[in-house]
Amino acid sequence: MIAIACDHGGYQLKLEVMKHLDARGIEYKDFGCDSEESVDYPEFAHKVGNAIVSGECELGILICGTGIGMSIAANKINGIRASVCNDCYTAELTREHNDANILAMGARVIGVGVALKVVDTFLDTPFSNDERHLRRIAQIERV
Ligand code: RB5
Repeated sequence: MIAIACDHGGYQLKLEVMKHLDARGIEYKDFGCDSEESVDYPEFAHKVGNAIVSGECELGILICGTGIGMSIAANKINGIRASVCNDCYTAELTREHNDANILAMGARVIGVGVALKVVDTFLDTPFSNDERHLRRIAQIERV
């Protein structure tokens, strides 16, 4: 199950992403928001982050204007590794190397076509499980 949420800046792109997930037969849970009316992104980032650390969902997608506010807010939650990826290369590498569990995208940064490719790359790329990456991820938690 994929957790997905956005703020007003990401609302239109979230609709496109959900349509794409429907077409691929991928199940998701939408944590809002539900319109282009202005909202505060941390609430939505925290909902998705909590759904992942609780085990309700495996991976998350967060969309705001830049992807940055959402990622900063989500990364405050222990066990969340949210990455802003507005291209396929970083989406692939953040799964392989960082075992990122949330993809954040900026609706004002990328178009729909690239965003859907980024979503596919993120969801379809497994973590490498390499010892060096496991070690580094464990070090992230030790602050
Ligand atoms: C909202 O205007 C904007 O600040 C938000 O969507 C996001 O880009 C924040 O990082």
